[in-house]
Amino acid sequence: MDVDMENNVFMLAGPVKMHPRVLKAMQMPAIAHRSAEFKEVNREIKELLHYLFQTKARVTVLNGSGTAGLDAAISNLLKKGDRVLNIANGKFSERFYEISKVYANPTLYSVEWGKAPDIDRVAELLEENEFKAVTLCHNETSTALTNPAKEIARLAKKHGAFFILDVITSLGGIPVDFDGWGVDIAVVGSQKCIAAPAGLAAVAVSDEAYEALHSDGSYYLNLKAHLDKMEDKNDTPYTPATHLYLAFREALRLLKEEGLENRIARTHRLAEATRAAVKAMGLELFPDPNYASDTVTGVWYPEGIDDSLRKNLREKHGVVIAGGQAHVKGKIFRIGHMGICDFTDLLPTIGALEIELQNMGYTGFNLGDGVEEVLKRMK
Ligand SMILES: Cc1ncc(COP(=O)(O)O)c(C=O)c1O
Repeated sequence: MDVDMENNVFMLAGPVKMHPRVLKAMQMPAIAHRSAEFKEVNREIKELLHYLFQTKARVTVLNGSGTAGLDAAISNLLKKGDRVLNIANGKFSERFYEISKVYANPTLYSVEWGKAPDIDRVAELLEENEFKAVTLCHNETSTALTNPAKEIARLAKKHGAFFILDVITSLGGIPVDFDGWGVDIAVVGSQKCIAAPAGLAAVAVSDEAYEALHSDGSYYLNLKAHLDKMEDKNDTPYTPATHLYLAFREALRLLKEEGLENRIARTHRLAEATRAAVKAMGLELFPDPNYASDTVTGVWYPEGIDDSLRKNLREKHGVVIAGGQAHVKGKIFRIGHMGICDFTDLLPTIGALEIELQNMGYTGFNLGDGVEEVLKRMK
């Protein structure tokens, strides 16, 4: 089969498959960004974000990918000299540290990739030092691991630190309790569980964090300006990427129509099926299985198999999955199962994986072992 970009099985950990309604939403004539029509788009997005984040706290949309949201969180809440604890066990939690180095005074608590942070060690660090904020990546996409956000939020709150949470690949796929856990700033990306095009970040900010925001960190990513415009006027400080907003609204509508709980439950069933399938094929999860993510599954390549597996999947079967990043590049592969993808996407993914693993000489299972696990859960 030739690679056919319009008709493949797209199982990355974001960007993800998009619904035809989302694609159609972008086929609109130009829309004036200061018109009543666009304010209505923004108003609905605000309402849908309150639903997605399950909070009445202030929300806004930034023009930029998820990293723009992380940058805005740090640069608008912290200043040079402010101490921040960055808990890092993967590429994206490390990004918080990189950003914090630019704007604040960070301390890195580095954990082996694929392992969860030691809660007692986090408690100790918070006892020993006075941090203004703690950062955590809820779902560490690079290692396919979900961090214990609730426990770490509790510790941050106990020590009076703001809790900044990257929910870029968790919100809309894994439960997040913004108010209940006491999250101060949460950032989500459009191209992950929401299944919209890449290019927007949505941010929710607690009242306490809102009061502490300053405007010295960034001119363009001035979080307070974005929050105020959205809150008061359903407006944006600068020209928004109008057609991305239209697609984002449609993707959020689809999420609400399915229901947040239902989407989370479906994502969980897909994750369980993926984990069972790779286990039945004799493969090993990369992260600690106790913390395996529901939105992406990370798997060690078995001996003798390398990253050309992904090329074969793509070129021969039109199945697109992700590889490893940084030092685990070529050592692991990752299957994304968030957003609107379903068993009808997972089944050919596992089927093609079986065929190509066997073609490449891996003999750890009988053809159909993985697929059977998916079928059992598809009923
Ligand atoms: C958990 C997490 N945080 C941050 C990012 C960075 O987001 P973006 O690439 O949209 O800037 C990603 C991207 O994959 C991610 O998965």
